[in-house]
Amino acid sequence: MKTYAEYQQMVVAALSQQLASLGEIPQLLLDAMDYSLSAGGKRLRPVLLLSSCDALGGDVTQALPFACALEMIHTYSLIHDDLPAMDNDDLRRGRPTNHKVYGEGMAILAGDGLLSAAMELMLRSAVQQGDMRAVRAAHAIARRAGVTGMVAGQVMDVTGEGSTPTLEKVDYIHRHKTADLLTAPIEAGMLLAGADDATVAAGCEFGLYLGLAFQMVDDLLDVEGDAAILGKTPGKDAAEGKMTWVAVKGVEQTRLDAQKAVEKAISALDCIPGETNFLKTLAQSTLNRVQ
Ligand code: IPE
Ligand code: IPE
Ligand code: MG
Ligand code: MG
Ligand code: MG
Repeated sequence: MKTYAEYQQMVVAALSQQLASLGEIPQLLLDAMDYSLSAGGKRLRPVLLLSSCDALGGDVTQALPFACALEMIHTYSLIHDDLPAMDNDDLRRGRPTNHKVYGEGMAILAGDGLLSAAMELMLRSAVQQGDMRAVRAAHAIARRAGVTGMVAGQVMDVTGEGSTPTLEKVDYIHRHKTADLLTAPIEAGMLLAGADDATVAAGCEFGLYLGLAFQMVDDLLDVEGDAAILGKTPGKDAAEGKMTWVAVKGVEQTRLDAQKAVEKAISALDCIPGETNFLKTLAQSTLNRVQ
């Protein structure tokens, strides 16, 4: 196993290389995609994918295109999430948002480009490997990013704006807009490593509770965070009437619920053979994150 920083470094080094390997991309499109992709960010999803694969004895190098694809999908979701028609944000990863620099049309296309590039990279790798494990991993990522996953959550988030928040709705939003994209790397990483069904199911349970806790903390940081550290503008959720965990439960109970969710995530690790300390530490650190 490597450290978080080492997995992160592998991803950062591979990201632009993977994009360039697709061929000649129009310069403006490449610039717009690269602007958001290279802006930093925690790289949590690709690190989860590589570490989940590694923990079960999989080949991390073979997993790299999938890790990069997931970071591209996540970055596309952020570019579109920030658009005036969605959350209307000006700051992301410490930089002006994509549409502030490239305009709305190019920001939409940069998101489309990142999503398409991700699918292409995963499928190319699956074809090259000729291995059903890679096909299953690509399918898991496509499904969790898609119309029953992240996109479904974003639909409820956007349509719920300004209406009375309920626990049922905010739970749906968090499960899909966030937890699905945090479960995808674990599911895919374990599938790539050839894990059995019970192990993958336990990994998905870990991902669900990690994802719920992660978004609860995101909602808390929107209330309490510091823009200079956060790299995005706090206070937006209340201003836009967003259906957040904090809006339903308040700050103190949200903190407690996040702790409980992390405990559930860690319990799920008991059913996973292999090195699970990395995932345990990562889940715990979610509660104290400041960005
Ligand atoms: C932001 O994700 C969107 C949410 C699901 C809360 P991250 O907090 O992982 O953002 P980056 O990738 O580090 O910028
Ligand atoms: C967005 O949730 C989750 C995505 C799928 C992008 P938020 O709207 O709360 O994320 P931030 O706070 O803008 O990063
Ligand atoms: Mg949003
Ligand atoms: Mg947002
Ligand atoms: Mg938020």
